[in-house]
Amino acid sequence: MRLIVVAGARPNFIKIAPLMPALAAAGIDAGLVHTGQHYDASLSDVFFTDLDIPEPRWHLGVGSGTHAVQTGTAMMLLEELFVAEKPDAVVVVGDVNSTLAGALAAAKIGVPVVHLEAGLRSGDMSMPEEVNRLVTDQLSSMLLAPTPDAVEHLAAEGVDGSRVHFVGNIMAESVLRNVEGARSRRACTRFGVESGAFILATIHRPENTDVAQNLSAIVEALLGAGSPVVFPVHPRTLAKLASAGIRADGGVRTVDPVGYLDMLSLQCDAAAVITDSGGVQEEACILGVPCVTVRRNTERAVTLQAGANRLVSPTVDAITAGIAEALASPRGWAVPDRWDDRVSARVVEALASGVAPLAGW
Ligand code: UD1
Ligand code: UDP
Repeated sequence: MRLIVVAGARPNFIKIAPLMPALAAAGIDAGLVHTGQHYDASLSDVFFTDLDIPEPRWHLGVGSGTHAVQTGTAMMLLEELFVAEKPDAVVVVGDVNSTLAGALAAAKIGVPVVHLEAGLRSGDMSMPEEVNRLVTDQLSSMLLAPTPDAVEHLAAEGVDGSRVHFVGNIMAESVLRNVEGARSRRACTRFGVESGAFILATIHRPENTDVAQNLSAIVEALLGAGSPVVFPVHPRTLAKLASAGIRADGGVRTVDPVGYLDMLSLQCDAAAVITDSGGVQEEACILGVPCVTVRRNTERAVTLQAGANRLVSPTVDAITAGIAEALASPRGWAVPDRWDDRVSARVVEALASGVAPLAGW
């Protein structure tokens, strides 16, 4: 079997890390294409090094742009690649613009699409990722779901159940394969904070960064958190902090985006995590660290149900109350089913059962 695996942005790299060696071990020829959606070393190269991901076979250099420009450019270049390479199927992961571009380009020329992390839904069509998830899933021949609720969402949308496989959460496999080494790094000491005595923050969603009032409230809440805060800042957030003239100094240590192992290490040692990231909500749940999610909704509802996570709106009062609740909350919740280190093995099993083309092809 010949596959092309599409990855382009930070969370994609973490999802393909356990997948690539599992495919190779199963004798599947899987070539990796990097769309270039993320290109800074701190958003791309560091993950290849930290996670020992093989060098991509193809680099497309798509870069930044509006949604249509980025997705369209990636589609054009991916189509050329798929036509030339004629893979048996294309694997896309997660919900970024590169995911959608890979699914659209492949489906239009009859190359079956396999979607890893299918079926997550926030119900919020103002999120670009929700649009990407919905369209990608409708175009996919094989849907690999991380949770039972994802399987239910797909059934409710009329997806043929024989195409859906509950493989579990590949993010968990990455965590479990790396947590031991990450923990011993004690990255927090490099940022001048003590284990157990700081809060880790990541904020990059447009609903928080692109509304100055929201970004300002988030920073104010972090400044008043009562503990030092380590805040690795995504380039989108950095630009918005600067343009809105918001200063995050004092107890908040703003730092460049960190690599995966440092990020896991920081999560292991944090008293709580404040985020709007999808992946970080999951990792905090797996690592046993209480999480405060600054969003109206989440497609990772299982983390709320587990008792690991709570949603708060972007106001100082709501975030402050969320932090207090998180710090006081009991730990030791149950990690969701199949968030384990066998997810890539289940993906290989599903692929071995065959990827049926969509109707008409
Ligand atoms: C994208 C994903 C989002 C994911 C996030 C992870 C979509 C729609 N969004 O959002 O789901 O959570 O990645 O980090 O795909 N930039 C740089 N260097 C880079 C890449 C981007 O400076 O290497 C800057 C550019 O100014 C760019 C902006 O960040 O315009 C946004 O990048 P983009 O990939 O469009 O979206 P993200 O906000 O990163
Ligand atoms: N991450 C990282 N360094 C950072 C911020 C995040 O390694 O400075 C990791 C994080 O641990 C998780 C992934 O990036 O594995 C989540 O990606 P992101 O938040 O960019 O996207 P999302 O999951 O929201 O799509």
